[in-house]
Amino acid sequence: MLKDKYRNTFPEDFLWGGAIAANQAEGAWNEGGKGLSLNDIVPYTKDMDYDDIKIIRSRKEVEDGLTNEANIYPKRHGIDFYHTYKEDIALFAELGLKAFRTSIAWSRIFPKGDEAEANPEGLEFYHNLFDELLAHNIKPIITLSHYEMPLHLITEYGGWQNRQVVQFFEKYVEVVLKEYSNKVNDWIIFNQINSAFTDPFLALGILEDEIEHPQEAKYQAIHHQLLANAKAVKLGKDIHPKNKMGSMILDLTAYPSSTHPEVMFDNVRYEQEAMFFSDVMIKGEYPGYMIRFFAENDLDIHMEKEDLQILKENTIDFLAFSYYMTTLSHKGSSLTESSGWHISEENRNKHLETSEWGWQIDSKGLRIALNKLYDRYQIPLLIAENGLGARDELTKDKTINDDYRIDYLRKHIIEMKEAIKDGVDLIGYLPWSAIDIISASTSEIAKRYGFIYVDQDDYGKGTKNRYKKKSFHWYQRVIQTNGEKL
Ligand code: BG6
Repeated sequence: MLKDKYRNTFPEDFLWGGAIAANQAEGAWNEGGKGLSLNDIVPYTKDMDYDDIKIIRSRKEVEDGLTNEANIYPKRHGIDFYHTYKEDIALFAELGLKAFRTSIAWSRIFPKGDEAEANPEGLEFYHNLFDELLAHNIKPIITLSHYEMPLHLITEYGGWQNRQVVQFFEKYVEVVLKEYSNKVNDWIIFNQINSAFTDPFLALGILEDEIEHPQEAKYQAIHHQLLANAKAVKLGKDIHPKNKMGSMILDLTAYPSSTHPEVMFDNVRYEQEAMFFSDVMIKGEYPGYMIRFFAENDLDIHMEKEDLQILKENTIDFLAFSYYMTTLSHKGSSLTESSGWHISEENRNKHLETSEWGWQIDSKGLRIALNKLYDRYQIPLLIAENGLGARDELTKDKTINDDYRIDYLRKHIIEMKEAIKDGVDLIGYLPWSAIDIISASTSEIAKRYGFIYVDQDDYGKGTKNRYKKKSFHWYQRVIQTNGEKL
C-alpha cells in the first residue's frame, strides 16, 4: 500500500525551466515609456573588491546615479532582451524549457509608480513576450516584484516603509493580473522577500541615511510587503480561478559552527529570522518568536486593524525559493544585523569549495533545504533559482566548455531527486540563469550563470551574439530524459 505512494523520480509534469529578471536582462531603460527603476542607477565598479561590494545607502548616491554620466550602469542595457526576446525564446525552445521565469518591470507599467493610468506600451511589450513563450509551448512563471520598484517611489515616498506604496503595488498588480491572467497563471509575487537585510535599497527601497531607527523602518517596510503579498494573493484569486499565487524566499540554511548548545540554539533563532517571512505568507500569522523579538527590541511596527485578518485569509499556494549556498552561524548570529552581499570568512565552511565570489558550493544543502521547507510547510515547492556564477571563456569554435557548471547543476539535481524520494512535493526547477545576464549584486556580466553565452563585456561592448555553451546541450538531454540522464 505505502509502496504505491513512493515516488522514486521526477513527476511527468515536472517543470524543467530557466529563470531571469527584467532588470538584469531587458535593458531599454528609457524606451517604451518606461520610468526609472531603482536598478537603473546602480553603477558598475571596475576591479571591485568582492569582499566589499558597494550598495546604495544614501540620497547622495541616488543623486549621483541620476546625474553622473561618467559611471557605467549595466542594468540600463542588460543584454538587450527587450529587443532580442524572440531570438532568445527560440533558443529556450531549442533547449527544451518547459517553463521560463522572468519578471515584469513595474516601471514599464507605471513609470513613476503613482500614476492613475498604466502605460499602454509597457502592457503591450509583456503581451508580446508572453505570446512568444506560449507559441513555443513554454509556460511563463512571472515575478511581480524583482528589485524593480520605480525610483520615484523611493525618492518621493521613502520606499516600502511608506504604507501608500502598498496601494500603488496593489494597483499595479490588479492591472497586470487583469491584463495577463488569460496567458499567465503562475505568479511569484516577491522575489527573495527575505533579502531585505542583504540590500535594503534593492529589496525595500530604503535609503539608510534617511531613517532614524533602521531596524524598525526595515521591519515596517517588511510588514508592508507581507501585506502587499496577501493583497496580491487575493487579487489573483478574485481575477482568475486558475491563478496560482506563490511568493519567494532566499534559502538561508546555516550550519552551526560549533556543537555548543548555545550556538545550536542561536542557529535555530537565525533560521527562524530567515523563515519568518514564509511563516507569515504560509501560516498567515506573525509567529511567537517574532512577536517576542519586536517586544524585546522595542520595535513598534504600525499595523491597521484589518492587517492581521488580511494576512490570515490570503496565504500563498506554493513556495518558490532560490538556493545558492549554505553558510555557518555563530553565537549571536542574527539576520537583521547582516547587510551587504559579502559572505565573511568566518561564515565559510572548510568542507566546501568556494567560487571566486565567495559563494560556497553545497549540493547536499539543497536537499536539507527541501526537506526542511517541506516538513515545515507541506505546500508545493518550486526552485526558482539555483546556479553557479563563473567566468566563461569563449573558445575559437564559439562555445564554452563549462564542465564546472554542469558538475554543479548535476550534483544539485541528484539531491533534488533524493528529496523527491523523501516525499518532498517539488514541482519545478528553474536554474539561474537561462541566458547570461547582468549580476544582481555586482552589476558585472563577467559573473555568468547562463546556458547561453552573450558576447558582451562589463562595459556593454561586444557583438551581443548568443552562443550555446556545453551546458546547453547537457541540460537539453536532462530535460528530454526527465532528469534520468545526468
Ligand atoms: C538572487 C537574485 O539573489 O541571486 C538574482 O534573485 C541574482 O536577481 C541571483 O542575479 C544571483 O546573484 P548575483 O549577484 O550573482 O547575480
